[in-house]
Amino acid sequence: MSGKKIRVGVLTGGASAERDISLAAGAQIARSLPSDKYEVVLLDPLAFMVNNPALTEQQRAQAESLLRGGGRVESERELPKGLEAEIESASKALVPATKAITGSGEPIDVVLISLYGTWGEDGRMQGLLDTLGIAYTGSGVLASALAMDKVMAKTVLKANGLDVPRGEVVRSAEGADLERARAIGLPVFVKPVASGSSVGASIVRGPEDLAPAIAGALEYDDRALVEEYLKGTELTVAVIGNDEPQALPVIEIVPKREFFDYHAKYDTGESEEIVPARIPPEVAKRAQDIGLRAHRALDCRGMSRTDLIWVGDRMVTLEVNTIPGMTANSLLPRAAKAAGIPFGELCARLIEWALEDARRRSR
Ligand SMILES: Nc1ncnc2c1ncn2[C@@H]1O[C@H](COP(=O)(O)OP(=O)(O)O)[C@@H](O)[C@H]1O
Ligand SMILES: [Mg+2]
Repeated sequence: MSGKKIRVGVLTGGASAERDISLAAGAQIARSLPSDKYEVVLLDPLAFMVNNPALTEQQRAQAESLLRGGGRVESERELPKGLEAEIESASKALVPATKAITGSGEPIDVVLISLYGTWGEDGRMQGLLDTLGIAYTGSGVLASALAMDKVMAKTVLKANGLDVPRGEVVRSAEGADLERARAIGLPVFVKPVASGSSVGASIVRGPEDLAPAIAGALEYDDRALVEEYLKGTELTVAVIGNDEPQALPVIEIVPKREFFDYHAKYDTGESEEIVPARIPPEVAKRAQDIGLRAHRALDCRGMSRTDLIWVGDRMVTLEVNTIPGMTANSLLPRAAKAAGIPFGELCARLIEWALEDARRRSR
């Protein structure tokens, strides 16, 4: 092994609503990996998807342009403030993942998945990589798919004794579905079942706002979750490791907006993220314990981040992220830093764990 660098394909971009943030994270990961040990290439899986009917016109055009050789890829939305330059430069460095992954290009040793949401975090990419026999960072197909589907995740977590928000799943903003949603009682929180970065999510306080909120969430998915609105202290617990996962210091999230929405997440200064959380040690311990239980319940590998709300004597699990935000300033990297693990080292560990799992499977 000596002398030969590990060739890492950072999968970034993709076709989810979180394409932009994926590019920012991919660029930072590529820059942070120790260059004496790793050789990094930024791979965009979009070209794989050129014939996928679920893509929008614009995404298909992007996929085609990527197949022809890459170049700047336009965003459908306003870029998160403070990350514009990063996203711009990453989109210029993209290489189509098709060649590198199918073996017709220079082979890669391991894929670091920096994709969020649909097609990247939800198990589909993991299945493709498994089929091709390529090692990748983070959780496998089942954990990824379960965690991405907030309804399935809640079912598994509840079966494992964790507290989850009371709620209903709806497919329509009218009729019997609307009636079931109404029966929960206001205020409620409405979000798409399988999305991320708070896109399509909102708080409903007035009866007239319920149907529009559901319709808004259904723009991102064919199912929406209508949940009891929990107003308490928002916490998130990152867990890293393979066979003996470790819970990192708890982070407290104090959004300056009404809740931890897309802008609060990505625009500089729109929320305060406090590590370690200003909570009593026994409460932190309880949160970490839940983070570890959630990680194990879903059979996560490498990393996860569990979002919680602490309200009264309840510690409620909102969701588990199998590919938590991975810009250097994101929550999991900040928790790792608080535990003495710098960003580059964190990325390197994820790669080592991926290779460790792959070696075990090949035996
Ligand atoms: N039931 C709920 N009650 C109160 N706030 C919620 C609830 N569900 C979600 N939120 C808020 O919305 C944010 C995003 O929801 P979450 O379930 O974590 O989905 P994602 O991060 O994948 O978009 C949370 O960080 C929290 O601020
Ligand atoms: Mg979340």
